[in-house]
Amino acid sequence: MTGQIIGTGACVPEKVINNQELEGLVETSDAWIQERTGIERRHIAVKETTVSMAAKAASEALKEAELPPEQIDLILVSTMSPEEIMPCTACKVQREIGASRAVCFDLSAACSGFVMAYVTACAYIEAGIFQNILVIGSECLSNVTDWSDRGTCILFGDGAGAAVLTAAEETKYLPSIYSDGSRGGALTLKSRQNHNPFGKEAPAGDEGTSYYIEMDGQAIFKFAVRSIPQAVEEVLRKNHLHKSDIRYYVLHQANERIVEAVAKRLGEPAYKFPMNMKEYGNTSSASIPLLIHEMKEKNMLHSGDRLVLAGFGGGLTWGTAIITWK
Ligand code: ACO
Repeated sequence: MTGQIIGTGACVPEKVINNQELEGLVETSDAWIQERTGIERRHIAVKETTVSMAAKAASEALKEAELPPEQIDLILVSTMSPEEIMPCTACKVQREIGASRAVCFDLSAACSGFVMAYVTACAYIEAGIFQNILVIGSECLSNVTDWSDRGTCILFGDGAGAAVLTAAEETKYLPSIYSDGSRGGALTLKSRQNHNPFGKEAPAGDEGTSYYIEMDGQAIFKFAVRSIPQAVEEVLRKNHLHKSDIRYYVLHQANERIVEAVAKRLGEPAYKFPMNMKEYGNTSSASIPLLIHEMKEKNMLHSGDRLVLAGFGGGLTWGTAIITWK
């Protein structure tokens, strides 16, 4: 018994910003961005929000699953760009879609968030606690991007992806998930801190400061290309599977060169590593469910296909999980 995906959905903002438009904001070029990242454009929220995109993606996933919202037991949202810290995004999605019975909470593991949420959802199902779970990755990264920093603003985009998991008599696979807090400084998004009357001062210059993603790009690049192949090998080994058993590797869509390097290190052909960051940029925890949804829409997924999901990002956090397509 484990969780099986029976519906997926996605939502991206209407507004599309291509690389040429960024040339007007920072000193960069379409050629540089494409060569270094594989990104050509990204969708940027104007009217949409982390909640509205999550709710839209969730409704689409529920429709495919043919499940009324009241039958959802748990809504788990992965996000690092919520509109508010409290109430959590999952509770707001509950209100939007009318999933009145659901328990709701958010999970924060940056770009590994969808893999961590999927693994968490499966654990609840395998423990017999819940039957039907909505797992969502939703990000409005444009709200937390420093649009004057050419090292990061060219990378990110907004969007959401959702999956409905239900309890099914399917093979249960063990995940390989990891964290290394000692290297967390390489990728950060700070939150504001107030002083308190017991001696804690607010950090200097904190008043009125807005917070944004800061990153040591090269360190993250090296971390991803080293840790993901190891995590893939590990998840295959512990589940007694071989690379030939895997139809596709669905990696977090951060950078085309990272995905290509992982494929090379694993000695696997490029066609097993679908990519869509060309269209969306890096959408953090939304990237994996967005890609799965797109693959389904393109009829790339067939019953019994085994996929390896692989996320990596801030924390540092990373991990792999195996799913069997319905
Ligand atoms: N346009 C033009 N030039 C640029 C830009 C830009 N947008 N950004 C940096 N440069 C310059 C640098 O200033 C540097 O110039 P210099 O040689 O004169 O000093 C030169 O280009 C090379 O810079 P590098 O940082 O070495 O470029 P690199 O090849 O490493 O590419 C990049 C940068 C794309 C950020 C890369 O390091 C990367 O993709 N890292 C991984 C980032 C990532 O995936 N983060 C997210 C993962 S986790 C998550 O999703 C939150």
